[in-house]
Amino acid sequence: MTAKSVARIYRPTARNFAFLAGRLRAGELVAVPSETVYGLAANALDERACAGIFKAKGRPSTDPLIVHVHALSQLERLCAAGPDAIRLARKFWPGPLTLVLPKTAAVPDLVTAGKPSVAVRMPRHPDFLRLIERAGVPLAAPSANPFGYISPTTAEHVRANLGGKIRYILDGGPAEIGLESTILDLRDSRRPRILRPGAISARQLSRVLGCEVELAVPARTRTQAAQIAPGMLKRHYSPRTPVVLHSRIEHFQPASEAFVLMRKPAGLSGTNVRWLDREGNLRGAAKQLFATLRELDDGRYRRIHAELARPGDGDLADAINDRLRRAAAR
Ligand code: TXA
Ligand code: MG
Repeated sequence: MTAKSVARIYRPTARNFAFLAGRLRAGELVAVPSETVYGLAANALDERACAGIFKAKGRPSTDPLIVHVHALSQLERLCAAGPDAIRLARKFWPGPLTLVLPKTAAVPDLVTAGKPSVAVRMPRHPDFLRLIERAGVPLAAPSANPFGYISPTTAEHVRANLGGKIRYILDGGPAEIGLESTILDLRDSRRPRILRPGAISARQLSRVLGCEVELAVPARTRTQAAQIAPGMLKRHYSPRTPVVLHSRIEHFQPASEAFVLMRKPAGLSGTNVRWLDREGNLRGAAKQLFATLRELDDGRYRRIHAELARPGDGDLADAINDRLRRAAAR
């Protein structure tokens, strides 16, 4: 990015945790590692601190933030968690599942974009958990990318995009999963709905809930998005280079265009070809997806062609294809 970088990357040492927790309590922003993607965190109970998140990301105030906790005991202050929420939390937390629940008055309206519900999650990255605990407050954190761009999966990605806007980045290594959490809407307990697919699948959720869990389709327009789930616009996570989707790619021409495959091709390929996982394992593919799109988005290629995951290849296919479709939407 153009602005001069003021950001420093901090290693997860006891001294740095104490320092960064202090910055958070003082109302500053800290980029944090998580098992899904890097987040840009602030004290969730401090409206002014959270306003800084919207400003740094260029995020519209209609797009609410996820609030992160390190223990179930922090939930009470934030939301009304019914028996279904508690059951899911016990099964999948800490982990890549976000629950949308009725909020309490303690959560600033800015955090929830004025909605009466709040999205909550207990991340499983040990450094993120430790920072929440040390800060002593729940942390609001969206993905640490400029609004609309690809989510960061390393501390370097965060510095490259937001280095001119934030001062503190905690480095917890590359994100283990590489895709944002599954968001489950539990406002109507009889009709749980996935607002964003992630590493926790509809099948896993319905097994615990004992009922069908439906997948909301991405909204195409702003008004539609505002009605279903704010911030769930179809176009999102997009590289600047146009992305074209294919069910299968077998030819890698022209050389001025890039080709992203799920698995390593048999035979020869060119420098314009990437594969997300050698064997086509979707866990490996999810982990590499955003970093690969970023790497190919430096202006060298006219277009990025990408292969979709096949649904039979595993539970992550929905989540991977959701991000690919958003990246390709114009
Ligand atoms: O994996 C993740 O979820 C990462 C890490 C940092 O935890 N965070 C993340 O946040 O992806 P973000 O801001 O990029 O996506 C949050 C989305 C919003 O765009 C919105 O769609 C949904 O969560 N959301 C938040 N609060 C909501 C609410 N009250 N009702 C409905 N949807 C909500
Ligand atoms: Mg995001």
